[in-house]
Amino acid sequence: MAVQRTFVMIKPDGVRRGLIGEIISRFERRGMKIVAMKMVKMDRALAERLYEEHKGKGFFEELISYVTSGPVVAMVIEADEAVSVVRKMIGATDPKEALPGTIRGDYALSKAENVIHASDSPEKASREISIFFKENEVITA
Ligand code: CMP
Repeated sequence: MAVQRTFVMIKPDGVRRGLIGEIISRFERRGMKIVAMKMVKMDRALAERLYEEHKGKGFFEELISYVTSGPVVAMVIEADEAVSVVRKMIGATDPKEALPGTIRGDYALSKAENVIHASDSPEKASREISIFFKENEVITA
């Protein structure tokens, strides 16, 4: 048993479509703890920092303009093995491959607008959490 924290972000299409409550409920019902949460309208600099590893890829510009197109809901989720469990709950990056019952499998079809992001490793989780939250903004115990 290893309690971990992971970074989750409901993307602009998820917020626009009124899916915030639905998505948060899934994590709560699974027994996960939300230890930080805020709504943010990202600017270009913040988005480029979050998606640094994709700089230079063909979809980078599209990705940056999409994630800055409206507010996102950023949160930190704490649970046993949170990183891999949350990734399973959100489903494959390409929603056409995401299984029904996953968030993308139930609410998305487009790889570009895929409703939600979650960290893919504990190292990325620490990095992404620190981009959005100061240490004293994350609840401890
Ligand atoms: P996310 O899990 O937030 O991580 C990187 C994001 O880049 C991904 O979700 C998608 O929204 C986006 N992305 C990945 N591949 C493509 C692609 N081929 N075309 C457009 N967007 C993509």
